[in-house]
Amino acid sequence: MKVLVIGSGGREHAIAWKVAQSARITEVLVAPGNAGTATEPRVRNVNVSALDLDGLVQLVRTERIDFTIVGPEAPLAAGVVDRFTREGLRCFGPIQRAAQLESSKSFAKAFLTRHDIPTAAWSAFATAAEAHAYIDAQGAPIVIKADGLAAGKGVVVARSLAEAHHAVDDVFRSVPADGTVRLVIEEFMVGEEASFICVCDGTTALPFASSQDHKTRDDGDKGPNTGGMGAYSPAPVVNAAVHQRTMERIILPTLMGMAKEGAPFSGFLYAGLMIDAEGNPRVVEFNCRFGDPEAQPVLSRLSTDLLEICERAVAGDLASLELGFDPRPAVGVVIAAGGYPDKYRSGDVIDGLDAAAAVGAKVFHAGTALRDGTVVTAGGRVLCVVGLGESVAAAQAKAYAGVDSIHFDQAHWRRDIGYRAIEREGQPLVD
Ligand code: AMP
Ligand code: GLY
Repeated sequence: MKVLVIGSGGREHAIAWKVAQSARITEVLVAPGNAGTATEPRVRNVNVSALDLDGLVQLVRTERIDFTIVGPEAPLAAGVVDRFTREGLRCFGPIQRAAQLESSKSFAKAFLTRHDIPTAAWSAFATAAEAHAYIDAQGAPIVIKADGLAAGKGVVVARSLAEAHHAVDDVFRSVPADGTVRLVIEEFMVGEEASFICVCDGTTALPFASSQDHKTRDDGDKGPNTGGMGAYSPAPVVNAAVHQRTMERIILPTLMGMAKEGAPFSGFLYAGLMIDAEGNPRVVEFNCRFGDPEAQPVLSRLSTDLLEICERAVAGDLASLELGFDPRPAVGVVIAAGGYPDKYRSGDVIDGLDAAAAVGAKVFHAGTALRDGTVVTAGGRVLCVVGLGESVAAAQAKAYAGVDSIHFDQAHWRRDIGYRAIEREGQPLVD
């Protein structure tokens, strides 16, 4: 069987790597892929952009591809699954209307409210004046979210009123106030975050092992927000009770609600959770695809055939499947280019990839490219190095042994990925 994976990040490298392990695979194509997918056994890159829907359809026809898996949100929001389905091609991911759970914060918040699913109190605004007045009435801390896809960077958690007003002005500086909703303002929620990702077929949701990502650039969860500087799985905060509440109060009502509204959700549904001290989860955000970098550690633990999971989701046949996971925890550390998430360099030669593999770490590529056969940096998040171990501390040590083997100019990474789980290690889990 030939499978196409759409995208070029670390998540897509992990998906392509896992799918290539399926016994039925002859070849996995990645459009457009990166230097990691270019060198993975049974995987080949094709130079078609993830947003070129005509080019992708043509590729599937000329290469006689049997099945397509969509990695990132942008092609999903652009309707790639709707288009493939119209063309009679099997494609894993949510349809455009279902992808609005991620692509429109105001759609997601209104949906959550309509279906009584726990989330932060909120209001949507089309003008700066109304947003400013609301902020003055509510006080700080308060959270400002630009509507639309923003690669995880359209959110400002404002600690002061001045910061909140400034964030509103920033949004309206870049877009015209034309009567459409431009931002959502939310109550600031307190608690611990976790990523709860399921595969869905419209009616059934199967949860993957839980995970937690580290969104800020610097150690101790400091510095600016990024797309994610590392992740680990499982997340101890998602104990059995939190897991059950998340399924009952969030995931299943979301699937039922989407089906009732005529946009059944098929694909990876990612609920970003805020879990309070009593273990009650609320939705911070939905994503309509796997997390990045969560995919790298979570899929490293997955023991079920990923191709079968995705095919069964498209066929509406997940109910009889169970997902299996390696009991060992996994830690993934992102190596970013100096300057990220702001302006960063690219084109720097990356050394030590073989040495990292030799210590037993798996290196997933994100922003990399091949230049005359040499791997060079080509993005803000460059690599994600994953270690598995008998404990989170052991998995972390393995990941950092890999990281320490790799060198490129001005590389930046956090030294504390997984610290929350390591602090809890040895403590009994309380349900
Ligand atoms: P989002 O892109 O919506 O996931 O937001 C990015 C990050 O901002 C989240 O991972 C949280 O750390 C933080 N955040 C977003 N919304 C809230 C909220 N209502 N309360 C507290 N923190 C939030
Ligand atoms: N790691 C956060 C995300 O994938 O959105």
